[in-house]
Amino acid sequence: MRARRALLYTPGDDPHKINKAANLEVDSICLDLEDGIAINRKTKARETIVDLLPELDFGRSERLVRINPIGSSLIEEDLDAICPIKPDGILLPKVVSGEHVEWVADRISKLEKQSNLPEGSIILIVIIESALALVNLKEIATASTRVEALIFGAEDLAVDLGAERSKSGWEVFYARSAIVTHAVAFGLQAIDLVNIDFKDLDNLRFSARQGAKMGYAGKQVIHPDQVHPVQEAFTPSDEQIIEAKKILDEFYKHQESGRGAFALDGKMIDAPIVKSAQSIIQRAKAAGKV
Ligand code: COA
Ligand code: MG
Repeated sequence: MRARRALLYTPGDDPHKINKAANLEVDSICLDLEDGIAINRKTKARETIVDLLPELDFGRSERLVRINPIGSSLIEEDLDAICPIKPDGILLPKVVSGEHVEWVADRISKLEKQSNLPEGSIILIVIIESALALVNLKEIATASTRVEALIFGAEDLAVDLGAERSKSGWEVFYARSAIVTHAVAFGLQAIDLVNIDFKDLDNLRFSARQGAKMGYAGKQVIHPDQVHPVQEAFTPSDEQIIEAKKILDEFYKHQESGRGAFALDGKMIDAPIVKSAQSIIQRAKAAGKV
């Protein structure tokens, strides 16, 4: 699966910001049709994306579009307009059930056929942002093979819960943990919450590192200044890569001589530590670092 260390939202009705996003070297760009767009700009946003997405050079960035949710009366028109211009993927907000995912996946299949696109070429990423979605995580995560990642929508979830957001985020910690756990259980990526205070880069770095330590593959961002610190936090450091390579070299040597567990620099190395080292190398490769 491709690296999605930072996923940058850019309003779909703003050509200046879309052009800017295309030059930021960010792993994923998500052109927004949903909550970042005023109701009276929805059509304009759809038209702007239809004009720009096929024409603009997005470099190595993934091109995603966030559509409006099921029940919004905008979703059919969003899908009908966006699928034929071949985005890399669709972000589906406010999902609450596996049925929601199946309905969208089926509609994408039909549109792929009509546009002569290979079946499954447009991937789906779903946003978990309500109490009901959390309770139904398993059926949502397994509803379609099109789904590649689960996104944690902390702000909407807090509203739904009647929770008050705090800097530490303890009030949404159960959700943050449940989402990454379900993603990993079903072979998906998990993408962590947005830090809306985009001027506070120290808190952003802390939050990104915390997400990475929990197992998240990346984080949503809303401002260009957030891209680099977040991508850095989700890329294994040089020290981690050197250490992982050393563990793997020693592991292969010890396997040949028939020893499972062994000591390295005063620490016991066995299967989970080896898997962790392999995962560091994989993430470094996905980020283009090895
Ligand atoms: N994508 C691309 N470019 C962006 C951007 C984004 N998300 N956010 C800001 N920029 C650009 C600005 O246009 C500006 O460009 P310029 O220097 O060429 O004029 C530059 O980055 C600096 O922006 P700044 O002036 O600091 O911010 P702003 O006041 O223009 O915008 C926000 C602040 C929050 C409105 C803006 O960051 C934004 O729209 N973010 C995304 C919101 C969104 O999509 N929300 C829904 C998902 S949670
Ligand atoms: Mg939301």
